[in-house]
Amino acid sequence: MRFPDGFVWGAATASYQIEGAVDEDGRRPSIWDTFSHTAGKVTNGDTGDVACDHYHRSRGDVALMAELGLQAYRFSLAWPRIQPTGSGAPNQLGLDFYSRLIDNLLEQGITPYPTLYHWDLPQPLEDAGGWPSRDTARRFADYAAIVGAALGDRVPAFTTFNEPWCSAYHGYSTGHHAPGITSNPKALAAVHHLNLAHGLGTTALRACIPAATHVGLTVNPALNIPASDTAEDRLAAEHADGVSNRLFLDPVLSGAYPQNVLDDLAHITDWSFIEDGDLTLIKAPLDFLGVNYYTPSFITAQRTELPHPGTDRAFYVEPSGDLTGMGWLVDPPSFTALLRRLHDDYHVPMMITENGAAYDDVLVDNAVHDEDRVAYLRSHLGAIHDAIGAGVDVRGYFVWSFMDNFEWAFGYSKRFGVVHVDYATQTRTPKQSAYWYRDVIAANGF
Ligand code: FCB
Repeated sequence: MRFPDGFVWGAATASYQIEGAVDEDGRRPSIWDTFSHTAGKVTNGDTGDVACDHYHRSRGDVALMAELGLQAYRFSLAWPRIQPTGSGAPNQLGLDFYSRLIDNLLEQGITPYPTLYHWDLPQPLEDAGGWPSRDTARRFADYAAIVGAALGDRVPAFTTFNEPWCSAYHGYSTGHHAPGITSNPKALAAVHHLNLAHGLGTTALRACIPAATHVGLTVNPALNIPASDTAEDRLAAEHADGVSNRLFLDPVLSGAYPQNVLDDLAHITDWSFIEDGDLTLIKAPLDFLGVNYYTPSFITAQRTELPHPGTDRAFYVEPSGDLTGMGWLVDPPSFTALLRRLHDDYHVPMMITENGAAYDDVLVDNAVHDEDRVAYLRSHLGAIHDAIGAGVDVRGYFVWSFMDNFEWAFGYSKRFGVVHVDYATQTRTPKQSAYWYRDVIAANGF
């Protein structure tokens, strides 16, 4: 199985999940600092205070990436390092950290793929209303301009947001993520302002970076499968597709919200926060769509099941079968189907910006034999290969994650890395999957 020439092979992380050093060099709290320090929000009371201590160990981490043959590294910039309160003058020490990281990656021949926002909103912006508030989108555009001016000369591709679905729906509807609010009207307002922030941020960024630099957006589109063949479940799955996918992808890529979805949710919000001209701003030209995929969703109309966020007309059924350590179904054909659907509907070049699996790894004699993760990665690369064979334009793959890290509400209890982290000593140990992946990269396939 060979991938197209020039296919990019990388690994991904995110700032709050790995950096630690939460109050160093001028960084101020984000919503995740507040949330993780709130009792009962994160498994075992874990926080990102230290995480993988990457802020102090980035040189060693980059050296390990080079040893493993990574061609690209996707990481995120912590807004509260760069603009500690979310507005005003940049913090030079925060920018310096990322500037050194980028230089170090380039020295090692690794292409940097920074994401501007992977969920760590400066706390003062949440206090002023957060993503349900329009002003947060304006603040994001200012931040994007600062990033572009400071780092744009050495970065070939920026991503604005990681998974706005999670920021809107887990942040403001299920409350599983920071800031932990449970309000569907607020979640739907957050959807729009995240879309708007993406558009404004893209334009602000492009004004400060070379014309050839790519700008993308990473989403976690869901493949919503009806839990049964009844008309009700099929309708619920179609509705879930509108709420989870089309509310993001249609405005960004096609310049319009799907009217039927707006109508279906009119009893939850009146959408009055969508202002004239917003859709033009949101549909700023995009060079690639980042796609994060882990598992499909099974949707029912049965109200006894777990509600889909943002709506009261779709519910999740728990899958059974081959499950990962997250309880997520291993289903590579759904990945192929999702990529084909995105290609057919939106005709956009794609990068797989996250894919991977958590398993209950054990470190024995300095080794982790994670055959289950190798099998997951192999079958999902096969799914991508199938999609490419069917004409889908996929240009690269980033495994989630480079190393074990703070898995949000699950804290350190879930390990997604291809590199094992011993949190007590901060020792990094490549798992079998890391060596397997190194060989895949070297062969451009397997
Ligand atoms: C995605 C997130 C990433 C990681 C994986 C497992 O939703 O973008 O940070 O937590 O899930």
